[in-house]
Amino acid sequence: MHRVTSPNALSDSPFLRACRRERPARTPVWFMRQAGRSLPEYRAVREGISMLDSCARPELVTEITLQPVRRYGVDAAIFYSDIVVPLKAIGVDLDIVPGVGPVVAEPFRTLKDLDRLPELTAADVPYVVEAVRLLVAELAATPLIGFAGAPYTLASYLVEGGPSKNHERTKALMYGDPQLWHALAGRLAAIAGAFLRVQVEAGASAVQLFDSWVGALPLADYVEYVQPHSAAALAAVGDLGVPRIHFGVGTGELLGAMGDAGAEVVGVDFRVALDEASRRIGPDRAVQGNLDPAMLFAPEAVLEQRVRQTLEAGRRAPGHVFNLGHGVPPNADPAALQRVVDVVHAASA
Ligand code: CP3
Repeated sequence: MHRVTSPNALSDSPFLRACRRERPARTPVWFMRQAGRSLPEYRAVREGISMLDSCARPELVTEITLQPVRRYGVDAAIFYSDIVVPLKAIGVDLDIVPGVGPVVAEPFRTLKDLDRLPELTAADVPYVVEAVRLLVAELAATPLIGFAGAPYTLASYLVEGGPSKNHERTKALMYGDPQLWHALAGRLAAIAGAFLRVQVEAGASAVQLFDSWVGALPLADYVEYVQPHSAAALAAVGDLGVPRIHFGVGTGELLGAMGDAGAEVVGVDFRVALDEASRRIGPDRAVQGNLDPAMLFAPEAVLEQRVRQTLEAGRRAPGHVFNLGHGVPPNADPAALQRVVDVVHAASA
């Protein structure tokens, strides 16, 4: 079914207005990981299909991306894929292991490994182009957010070979062989930038660069080793006129520098209140966040009170997109997420 909508309805949507720091009629809300295991309808359609296989099937990607939009009435859809999909697409041998995360068969160690990270083009990810097109037609006035993993977070999986608590090998490479680090991060920035560009050119209305694990770095090292590469990934879509969101976890000390990397919106985790976060980021940027996902498990009155507190802090920023401080936990109750959407919409209208 293709709905007919005026282009203005999309452009004037609360999500895009908030990203542009215009005052929308109500505060927009979406959730990182809104599509996924917390939804029974997701578990049903994914049965017997691996995560990476599901990402390569445009009809399935479309269905999964739409599920939370239909169910909750959120103000944006996030493209169903994974940060390692572009790496897989250019030939890196990796898998997503259920309950673990991305696992890389041969971790990145030496200069020679750069040969395994060629440029990404749209021809490497035809199923992404197809799925974005299908989605944009279905979503009509609801914006689709494309995304990519940022160089540091992608490097952490490539260098460690999988998820890691302390990123020892990643930091050993960064501090021990800065030249190789910059070469690696530069390649990953090009891949991330190209992946974002493919999604926007196919019709996505905004992008989010996930630097989930960059909070592992002190500010000075972030500025020296990471920020230029994240800035390059964001700049790859700078001419396309879509808002760019830049998100990480544990980034309280990095917020100003993350803002300087160029995105219009900075995603904030739950550790720093949004008014303080906005003060650190500066007046030229909107903020996104930042309800603690753990609140989804708190009594309803506590959840509601925290949602209102987040809205109030967000009103003191020049623009606010409501979200969680990190992704929806797989065991979250969809009823709690519905409550959040309803309270955000009612309290901000
Ligand atoms: O709804 C959405 O947010 C869109 C889809 C999305 C997925 N991964 C689907 C997914 C997005 C935006 C991501 C990004 C992603 N992937 C990040 C950045 C966001 C974050 O959480 O900080 C990271 C670090 C990854 C790497 C990754 N992939 C992890 C840590 C996991 C979880 C492993 C597990 O099983 O707990 C994955 C797998 C993954 N990606 C799942 C989903 C829905 C779960 C696997 C499944 O459903 O089989």
